[in-house]
Amino acid sequence: MAIKHFLQFRDFTRDEFEYLLWRTRWIKNEFKSYRKHWPLCDRTLVMIFEKASTRTRLSFEAGMHQLGGTAIYLNTRDSQLGRGEPVEDAAQVISRMSDLVMIRTFEQEIIERFAANSRVPVINGLTNEYHPCQILADICTYIEHRGCIQGKTVAWVGDANNMCNTWLQAAEVMDFKLNVSTPPGYEIKPELIGIVDRSHFEVFADPRDACRGADLVNTDVWTSMGFEAENEVRREAFASWCVDGPMMREAHRDALFMHCLPAHRGEEVTAEVIDGPQSVVWDEAENRLHVQKALMEYLLLGRIETK
Ligand code: CP
Ligand code: NVA
Repeated sequence: MAIKHFLQFRDFTRDEFEYLLWRTRWIKNEFKSYRKHWPLCDRTLVMIFEKASTRTRLSFEAGMHQLGGTAIYLNTRDSQLGRGEPVEDAAQVISRMSDLVMIRTFEQEIIERFAANSRVPVINGLTNEYHPCQILADICTYIEHRGCIQGKTVAWVGDANNMCNTWLQAAEVMDFKLNVSTPPGYEIKPELIGIVDRSHFEVFADPRDACRGADLVNTDVWTSMGFEAENEVRREAFASWCVDGPMMREAHRDALFMHCLPAHRGEEVTAEVIDGPQSVVWDEAENRLHVQKALMEYLLLGRIETK
């Protein structure tokens, strides 16, 4: 039987996400009630980081521990990955000694090659192209605060990066609309991420137009990891793509603000917005833990319908 991986958002169906979100609620409630849930006792997660992380490492490591298993951290600096060992060879070896692998790396192609040579499920913990675990946590957070996301409008303000690409896929899978506004020269490329149907997104030149009537406003850093050399040029190009009070006031009065973090106050978002009453960034960060516990359980044990 083919191994199930989570390499991009569209690897799962809406039905699978609905199961995961339902299961997340149960897992979160057990955790908050201090009840042990150890379905992954004796299972080992290997986490490979080729880029920095706070939330992703912490949520996967703590999550695996809370499910009764063990997590092992590898990075490029201390492993043979940084010395040119082929990713295919690394996948063969790592997947013979573990039950599950999470990778944060550069090009999506790297994680695809790893998965093609892995005996165990592989999870994308962020690539240049996608960040599916984050969007799963964001959708979970939206539902907790406002209910069903189907039919709603999410505004994306900023870079056409891994977060934006994943929102574009999620809009199609979960049936909501994405309003996108990026600076000239940084436009989305939907065809490169397999989006052919244009009915779930709309492009706006002015970020205020993208926010108008939105139920959720989302932004991210102007310069993602791996693109630091472009920092100065981007700082100028993105100056008008800062989510501020007037932009939030264009959105629905109940609109939420999200940012995957880490954030730069005064660049992509003002302190007034990220620290204001519409912001749910801490819930978003916490929900990484709960959704990924449901994800790891699902990849290793399949659906658990009862309890
Ligand atoms: N949002 C997120 O993935 O954070 P880290 O880079 O800290 O893992
Ligand atoms: N787009 C950002 C997200 C960080 C969690 C980056 O890739 O650096």
